[in-house]
Amino acid sequence: MRDTVRFVRRGQIVEIGNIDPMTTLLDHLRLAEGATGTKEGCGEGDCGACTVAIGRQKDGQVVYQPVNACIQLLGMIDGTEIVAVEDLATGAELHPIQTAMVEKHASQCGFCTPGFVMSLFTLYQSTEGPVTRGAVNDCIAGNLCRCTGYRPIVEAALSVCSQERADKFRDANADTAGILQFLSDGRDLFIGDHERFFAAPASIDGLATLYERHPTAVIVAGATDVGLWITKQLRDIPKIIHIGRVPGLDGIEDTGRELLIGAAATYADVEPYAHAIDPDFGELFRRIGSKQVRASGTVGGNVANGSPIGDTPPALIALGATMELRKGERSRVLPVEDFYIEYGKQNRASGEFVTGLMIPRLKADQVFRCYKVTKRFDQDISSVMGAFRFTLDAGGMIREARIAYGGMAGTPKRAKHAESALTGSSIRDSAAWSKAFAALKEDFTPLDDHRASAAYRAETAHALLGKALLESAGTSTHRTRLIGRREAIHAAE
Ligand code: FAD
Ligand code: FES
Ligand code: FES
Repeated sequence: MRDTVRFVRRGQIVEIGNIDPMTTLLDHLRLAEGATGTKEGCGEGDCGACTVAIGRQKDGQVVYQPVNACIQLLGMIDGTEIVAVEDLATGAELHPIQTAMVEKHASQCGFCTPGFVMSLFTLYQSTEGPVTRGAVNDCIAGNLCRCTGYRPIVEAALSVCSQERADKFRDANADTAGILQFLSDGRDLFIGDHERFFAAPASIDGLATLYERHPTAVIVAGATDVGLWITKQLRDIPKIIHIGRVPGLDGIEDTGRELLIGAAATYADVEPYAHAIDPDFGELFRRIGSKQVRASGTVGGNVANGSPIGDTPPALIALGATMELRKGERSRVLPVEDFYIEYGKQNRASGEFVTGLMIPRLKADQVFRCYKVTKRFDQDISSVMGAFRFTLDAGGMIREARIAYGGMAGTPKRAKHAESALTGSSIRDSAAWSKAFAALKEDFTPLDDHRASAAYRAETAHALLGKALLESAGTSTHRTRLIGRREAIHAAE
């Protein structure tokens, strides 16, 4: 058992004990370290001003990802390298990203700029080949600039990422990877006492035992929800159990028949596998939050939090996914749809946690579509999320319809009346479509809130079902999308 957090800063190992469980990485940097280059804007993961790079060791290499330090807990970064904006320059010599930002006049206020620089720093470290405009746009979708405008920032990124990339971080990569390997000691982390602690067990059995002993503790995966409970709701969370150090819990396996996702696997890691299931499912992942949110947030957390407007649950339900839960030594599996009982109430016992998800791959006779409707394209929560899976026979008859929506009820929910109206009819039968549209009214009493009115949601749910049927029937001559299903953002240049 270890009672200190250990991480790498500027090539050195830092070890800190006696931290409050709710201490954020941002507070550590600004208040304890005095590294005030990293800014605090929104404090809720939306603006990107607090972006820092986290380096993790993967296959002998350090891989850098951007995170929002404002909602990342200090204990979560155990075993990683933290790179903040002050660390980029070497004396008076700026990092190539910083030089490009200066040369392209890409900064005015200085408040958002450190976050942009850090997001682009992770892009600079990421790939070898030249990056595309689409990749730059995606990289900075979680960084807000309200004055300079994005064009010079994108130009700065393109100019520097199109050349050969070399910096001190690349030079030190192998050494840093060695230090991170050394830090990965496989010991449980427990800081505090039994009344107030931050714990990060290093085994699944250790996690199960600790949570059973402390069922009032809050499980934390990526903290993209829990972080806001601390910074915005000002809740006191005395006991925190982080699942990110359990070996294998971040695992992802495609067996060819199903995709197995560990509860600690992040959106960023799952995204390519989701693409392999269906382009719409992959695109859904790319539309979740921002690069920063996707680098920390997990599918397990998205399912477990029980939100009626979470993006993955409707898609998982339509795909027929199941989930595994564990309490003590006992595990059980249930369909994702059965996890949701009512608003704020899930089928999860005290001391029980999610260990993973199983998503069946589509069969040759199945068509899948999902659509996320938001006010903004990037970095926005759904007003309505619709997901559809139709199983068709050779003549186009719908043998099974699975339709699920988010934002239409207190939980993510199947549209069982609409499904019945379609089952047994031809996918091209417009009379069956009309019955299904009407049946949606029996299925849902939509939410009515600041994101969207109930009437808007009802109309949108109808339109999304129509779009899914039109696309699946393949009879429409009208375009249903601005860009095709297979051309995601990078092809939209
Ligand atoms: P955490 O915050 O760690 O936990 C969330 C909840 O799940 C907590 O109650 C926690 O106790 C519980 N939990 C986590 N893991 C387990 C487990 N293994 N077993 C039991 N309980 C567990 N969501 C969307 O759906 N779409 C979006 O576009 C989107 N955009 C966002 C943008 C921003 C800026 C932010 C801050 C959040 C956004 N979210 C979005 C919400 C959030 O990112 C997701 O809900 C995310 O999936 C939560 O995962 P996490 O790992 O961060 O969960
Ligand atoms: Fe805005 Fe962290 S301060 S994302
Ligand atoms: Fe900071 Fe634009 S440079 S808001």
